[in-house]
Amino acid sequence: MKRISITGGTGPATTLTLVEAPDLEPRPGEVRIQVRAAGINRPDLLQREGRYPPPPGAPETLGLEVAGEIDRLGEGVTGVAIGDRVCALLGGGGYADQAVVDARHIFPLPDDLDFVTAAALSETLSTVFANVFEDGRLQADETLLVHGATSGIGATAIQMAKAAGARVIATSRGKAKADAARALGADVSLDARSDDLEAAIKQAGGVDVILDMVGADYAALNQSVLRPGGRWSVIATQSGARAEIDLMRLMLRRIVLTGSTLRSRSADEKARLITAVRQQAWPWVVAGKVRPPIEATFPLSDAGLAHLRLEAGEHIGKIILVVD
Ligand SMILES: NC(=O)c1ccc[n+]([C@@H]2O[C@H](COP(=O)([O-])OP(=O)(O)OC[C@H]3O[C@@H](n4cnc5c(N)ncnc54)[C@H](OP(=O)(O)O)[C@@H]3O)[C@@H](O)[C@H]2O)c1
Repeated sequence: MKRISITGGTGPATTLTLVEAPDLEPRPGEVRIQVRAAGINRPDLLQREGRYPPPPGAPETLGLEVAGEIDRLGEGVTGVAIGDRVCALLGGGGYADQAVVDARHIFPLPDDLDFVTAAALSETLSTVFANVFEDGRLQADETLLVHGATSGIGATAIQMAKAAGARVIATSRGKAKADAARALGADVSLDARSDDLEAAIKQAGGVDVILDMVGADYAALNQSVLRPGGRWSVIATQSGARAEIDLMRLMLRRIVLTGSTLRSRSADEKARLITAVRQQAWPWVVAGKVRPPIEATFPLSDAGLAHLRLEAGEHIGKIILVVD
């Protein structure tokens, strides 16, 4: 097999190198996927820099989501067959032409779904579902606020919330991104560089759920715009992890502050989550309502260039590695 190795050096183009490695064998309960495409996620950049080590037992190779065909079944696996087209949520190992995964962590692909789009779904759908729909309990008649709205996660959150019948207020930095978020379905799309976010969100009526990947810089804003009974769901702290919380306001408005990471969940918990996503959100994918935009594809051997593209921060949607 071939996989991307972090080989040392100063920048992503030199630290990420395609190397030969022994073929993978699925253990009992696992399947092996012949990878056709692999999604790039921001946590991959942190892992490359040594700031986000893989959890115990996870492969060292980068990559949290892939799409491809099952080509080997581990002992005891039922309900899937060799040749099935799937995408999968991984603890690591996606930047490769083979990946092994717990057979409970896969999604079956509809015929019209290409591998590139499919590779953009497992991490984004699972993260949004866990934080917006489970912990955030978003309801059809409610409003979701999404920051970083044109990120892979943000774009997926807009589409999922709209598919669920909710209203979406989006924030992103720059007019082009604000326009893109509107095109993705946001009812109100604000440019954090030029709009007064607090005034505009309040004028739009406030929000019930916040998907927050920004952290410290937006903490005051988030507390100010949440309606009574609102839920504030933190999935990243890109502007800092320390923030001032007005506990009195939390109490008086019955606000719930929650946060989670996907990768650190146990295999059983991921299996539970994926079963729920397959039941409740996967039909939106099948219906074509949730398909995050693809900014660019790169060959697997150019994983470093793909990281540079994500680091540049100008992308809209997902960046995907393609395996020949
Ligand atoms: N907790 C979990 O389970 C989990 C799972 C997956 C991903 N994540 C996190 O979710 C985030 C999105 O992931 P992704 O792969 O979709 O990444 P991505 O496409 O690179 O998006 C990152 C987004 O963060 C926004 N951003 C960064 N710093 C900001 C700041 N200081 N102020 C305002 N916005 C800022 C950017 O907004 P602009 O477009 O406005 O520049 C960009 O849209 C990442 O932080 C990732 O680590 C968490």
